[in-house]
Amino acid sequence: MVLVMNLKMTCRVSLNLACGALLLSSCTAKNKNSDEVSTPETVVQDAVQKAVQKGKNIYQSQCISCHNSDPSKVGAIGPKLAGSSLELLEKKLFLGVYPDGYQPQRKTGQMPLFPHLKSDIRALHEYLNSVRPN
Ligand code: HEC
Repeated sequence: MVLVMNLKMTCRVSLNLACGALLLSSCTAKNKNSDEVSTPETVVQDAVQKAVQKGKNIYQSQCISCHNSDPSKVGAIGPKLAGSSLELLEKKLFLGVYPDGYQPQRKTGQMPLFPHLKSDIRALHEYLNSVRPN
């Protein structure tokens, strides 16, 4: 009888351990390229980091013929863009207008529309808001 009890107890303990290990491994998957452990926070940080990089590439390839390559500075003919809101970007790039009550930095009306950037607008927004406005 004592032997059976002992057996049962060891089984329960090892079962608990196995469950614990399983839980742990499902919560803390390792990153592919490093030994860092992914948590919900680092997963979000990674996603933001990727969006910022994508937005930067788009900005540096499609906006800096007129805007400054440093979005916190005035460009050749385009104003500063650091800190631009998503609404401002969407209205200006897709419709050529400004949000209600917004005071445009310049009223020249020289900027073309960018309808092909619809699916990239959030990345552009992340990048322009990752830069400190001056
Ligand atoms: C051909 C030149 C040119 C290009 C390329 C250009 N812009 Fe502009 N942008 C301007 C000018 C000039 C203004 C000032 C208003 C106007 O003339 O339309 C402006 C204004 C803006 C504004 C309004 C800023 C404010 O606060 O008043 C935003 C936002 C903006 N541009 C975003 C962008 C983004 C993002 C890109 C790249 C995808 C881009 N622009 C590419 C010339 C350009």
